[in-house]
Parts: sequence; structure tokens; C-alpha cells
Amino acid sequence: MNTIPNHVAIIMDGNGRWGKLRGLSRSEGHYAGSQTMEELIDASAEMGIKILTLYAFSTENWKRPKDEVNYLMNLPIKFFNQKLPEFMKRNIKILISGDIENLPKGTKKAVIKAMEETENNTGLIVNFALNYSSRSEIVQAISRVLQDAKDHKISIEQLDEETFANYLYTKDLPDPDMVIRTGGERRISNFLMWQSSNSELCFVDELFPDFKKEIFIKEIVKVFGDNEVSLNEWVV
Ligand code: FPP
Repeated sequence: MNTIPNHVAIIMDGNGRWGKLRGLSRSEGHYAGSQTMEELIDASAEMGIKILTLYAFSTENWKRPKDEVNYLMNLPIKFFNQKLPEFMKRNIKILISGDIENLPKGTKKAVIKAMEETENNTGLIVNFALNYSSRSEIVQAISRVLQDAKDHKISIEQLDEETFANYLYTKDLPDPDMVIRTGGERRISNFLMWQSSNSELCFVDELFPDFKKEIFIKEIVKVFGDNEVSLNEWVV
């Protein structure tokens, strides 16, 4: 029998290179990545994973060329417009981890709508790390802890790991069991640094658009599965 991880997080790296390798633009690579992302959302729901966290845009990504940033900021608008009815039917809940306030107006509106509409869904949680930085998440948490201590809402003596975790974007979520990074680099890139302190780290060479369902499942089975036979339970 396989144990199914509760929470899998993915650093979706390699879209730009995937596009360039095919004589396409980096943005076309991101489009291909978004198709793979949809496939992995489906696979996660089928497998019974409870939470899938996807690193969609880091605060460092603002330094990219303007047209690429615009493309990446428009993707969630198109994506949620198209996919929300299906997510409602499939009981999928959307969360965002990151600085939503400083997103462009249209993107902010689309992600807030997606969170609000799916708020009461009880199936797979898809948590998008959008405009996300682990370091600033931690600094902001510290600053809010200090403010709450000043306002006598908590006492510094009471502060422990559990209380601190409640100040992070991921406050209602368990830590990831596994963090996968595609694209061949072996770095965490400012992603879930607090939350992944005990996670299995899994680095794969496939560029994200090529990281299809079968490879995803194989990586999960490598860490959590019993044997090759049980792999067949999932690869349909
Ligand atoms: C990193 O690859 C990937 C990103 C910065 C964006 C990932 C986004 C998606 C897969 C789609 C998101 C869609 C929605 C709806 C939120 P890279 O461009 O850094 O790749 P490279 O290392 O080849 O340059």
C-alpha cells in the first residue's frame, strides 16, 4: 500500500528554458507550464493528496522583462476565469500565499474571487505561492508578533513554534511532506523555508512543462510508495 502525502509543494522551474529550446518565447514556456500545472492539479485530486502548493511567482520575479511579468500576472486572470466553474464542481479550494495587496488590480481581483468562491469547498486545496518570498513572510510574521505583544494580544513568553506558524501565510495548512523542484537546479529559492524544515526535498531534471503526471507520481512513489506494483494503482 502507498502512503499518500498530505501536502506536496512544487517549485515549477524551467518554463523559460523549455520555450527557448523550442525556438519559442519564455512566455510560451510559461503557457506550457500552466498546462502541466493543470495536469498535476488533476493528478493530485485523483490521488487524494490534500494540499498542493505551487510556486507561481516569487517577489524576485518582478525583475524579469516587463512583457514576461505582464504575461505571468495575466495568467491567473485567464486561468481562474476558465477553471473556477470546474473547481466548484470538483470541490477544489483555492488559497494564495503571498503579498496579494501589491498585485496588479486585475490579478488581485481574480485571485480574491477564486478564494472567496471556493472558500467552503472541502476537497483538494490548491495553494498558489504568488508574489511570495519566504524571508519577507518570516519578517512580516515577526513584525506582527511584536505588534500583538505590544497590544497585549499575546505574551512573548508564550511564543512557541506553533504560535509563530500562525502568523505565516500558511497558517491553516500542515507543513509540506515533500518539496519538488523541477528544472535541474538544487536550491530552495526563498520558498517555504520555515515550513519545509522537515520535508523530503526532491530535485528533478525535467523542465517544468515536461514534468507530466507519470513522472510526478513516480517521484511520489519513490519517497512514499512501497513498490513498483503500487505505482500502477495511480497511473491510469
Ligand atoms: C519558473 O521558470 C517559473 C515561473 C516563474 C512561473 C511558473 C508559473 C506557472 C507554471 C504557471 C502559473 C499559472 C497560474 C495560473 C498561477 P523559469 O521561467 O524561471 O524557468 P527558467 O529557469 O528556464 O528560466
